[in-house]
Amino acid sequence: MRKLDLPDTFGKFTRLRLLEKQDLEMIRAWRNKPRARRWFNFSAPVTRENHHIWYENYCQSNDDYMFILEDLERKNLPVAVAGVYNFNWATGSAEIGRFVVGEDSALGTKVINDIHPAMFKLFEQRGLAEFRAQVKENNHLALRMFFDLGYKLCATENQMVYLTYGKEVNQ
Ligand SMILES: CC(C)(COP(=O)(O)OP(=O)(O)OC[C@H]1O[C@@H](n2cnc3c(N)ncnc32)[C@H](O)[C@@H]1OP(=O)(O)O)[C@@H](O)C(=O)NCCC(=O)NCCS
Repeated sequence: MRKLDLPDTFGKFTRLRLLEKQDLEMIRAWRNKPRARRWFNFSAPVTRENHHIWYENYCQSNDDYMFILEDLERKNLPVAVAGVYNFNWATGSAEIGRFVVGEDSALGTKVINDIHPAMFKLFEQRGLAEFRAQVKENNHLALRMFFDLGYKLCATENQMVYLTYGKEVNQ
């Protein structure tokens, strides 16, 4: 059970809602697209079985939020997935990532940019001050997205770029 009861959240053209069991195969297909999985640390295709094991663990966790982003202008068509996890409530920091714009027709529409301010506010209202992110240094699309969103560079190490958004807190 999750500790926080999160409401639906809206951007200008995007709705953010929590992942549901019926979304599992859709997000697995998105995650397994070569254009997406190449950017994850585990870059092999995820099997149905492993995906279900992951989901069972996710359901047990009370501080890990997977979101589906829906396009309000296309009858709430699911277009992307995102996650907020690795919370440190003592310092007010969490990691954001696992982004995949899975619906090809939504690529280049700035859907993450549309929802990000509302997404940050959702957690800020619950005491969070900072989002952290890590991206492979050659993932130019993701890096450009993060810098457009206002993320600042923290460090670069082992081909990874570490970014921060909001009020930088000590870990
Ligand atoms: C990173 C990611 C979420 C960013 O989403 P996005 O839709 O590419 O981001 P944007 O809307 O800012 O588009 C970025 C650029 O891609 C271009 N683009 C790429 N493919 C496109 C397509 N098929 N159709 C239209 N535009 C496309 C856009 O023109 C845009 O360029 P612009 O900013 O000059 O207009 C997305 O690329 C993705 O899912 N990547 C794979 C997984 C990943 O890397 N996740 C991040 C891990 S931290």
